[in-house]
Amino acid sequence: KTVVLAYSGGLDTSCILVWLKEQGYDVIAFMANLGQVDEDFDAAREKAIKLGAKKVFIVDIRKEFVEEFIYPGIQANALYEDRYQLGTSFARPVIAREQVRIAKQEGAEYLSHGATGKGNDQIRFELTAYALYPKVKIIAPWRIPAFFQRFKGRPDLFEYAKANNIPLPVTPKSPWSMDANLMHISFEGGVLENPKHEGPDDLYQMTTDPRKSPNEPDVLEIEFKNGVPIRVTNVKDGTEKKVPLDLYLYCNDIGGKHGVGRIDIVENRYIGMKSRGIYETPGGTILHQAHLDIETFTMDKEVRRLKQGLALRFSEQVYNGFWYSPECVFTRECIAKSQEGVEGTVKVSVFKGHVYILGRESPLSLYNEELVSMDVQGDYDPTDVAGFIAVNALRLREYGRLRSKMAAD
Ligand code: ARG
Ligand code: SIN
Repeated sequence: KTVVLAYSGGLDTSCILVWLKEQGYDVIAFMANLGQVDEDFDAAREKAIKLGAKKVFIVDIRKEFVEEFIYPGIQANALYEDRYQLGTSFARPVIAREQVRIAKQEGAEYLSHGATGKGNDQIRFELTAYALYPKVKIIAPWRIPAFFQRFKGRPDLFEYAKANNIPLPVTPKSPWSMDANLMHISFEGGVLENPKHEGPDDLYQMTTDPRKSPNEPDVLEIEFKNGVPIRVTNVKDGTEKKVPLDLYLYCNDIGGKHGVGRIDIVENRYIGMKSRGIYETPGGTILHQAHLDIETFTMDKEVRRLKQGLALRFSEQVYNGFWYSPECVFTRECIAKSQEGVEGTVKVSVFKGHVYILGRESPLSLYNEELVSMDVQGDYDPTDVAGFIAVNALRLREYGRLRSKMAAD
């Protein structure tokens, strides 16, 4: 019996690794490199081997994460509940896809992960796994009574670690749970569980406090084609980035330096409960603002309305773990289609936690300067509008008539 465990090197998944061996499984440890800050992959590999992993796979999936997951998110302007850019939600299907690939390659019929029984992540991991590997069997220790009744809290995990020679983390664990990748860091749990309490200053890792950020903005020209950024140029020093991963990381640097992309929200988990989370998404916030601008500049009004509805559905599908579902394939394809004419360049100033749009230009814009001008007539007859308003008013006048009649009765 072989299981591929999504391993992080932390206390939880280290204990899970040893516990799975105790249950008689051969354990293959899998760790995804998604560009999480300050991760020591070599140390994690050594630790997994020391704990008795049969094999360890550490795979760099940053490129596919940006190109296949983050970029469709930018095309969609994807936001969950109007604010969350879905940095964890996009990461889960790309991690689970790689985990499945390894399981098939190694002939493993089991997958395991350390997500809790209360959250979204368990759903995302497992729905992806079942979609891509229908015969797979999942071991979710935090839902197995023999496991969670034995490990009721962190002290139990520590004790188990000591008893089994599991090296304890050298850095004391921060009093909250973190999920980091190159798109964002999310913070939940621990001292953040009281939604009234402010997130402490030392929580943030990707973004500077805007009170301490530079007093001069960075001005970027962001060029889009098919609704994705293909070039970012810093006006100040001429830095230019084109390769998706490099471009995205550069936006992170600039956004991070100026304190862009912090949010603190209470959100609705798919399971049904509300949870409080703090997120920092620096590069994503710059690209989101720039994309919104070039999209409205180039896209037909009615197509935009339809696309906006699809993007709302897409965001919910991604949040709820349905990346590999027929409905999400459909929304992704429709959204991609809508982006064919979304091209041009947006100029933004990144400054003190904000992204200010300075201007835009496009070869495919539907903007007609003459038509909208307050100074020239253009191909337009203002006398037509009287009829346009009169016909639109018909229904409103009937409604007004009824209301005054009822008031009179
Ligand atoms: N609430 C976010 C989501 O569901 C982030 C969850 C991240 N997990 C964590 N351990 N902080 O996408
Ligand atoms: C977890 O419960 O494992 C993290 C939070 C979530 O998945 O929503």
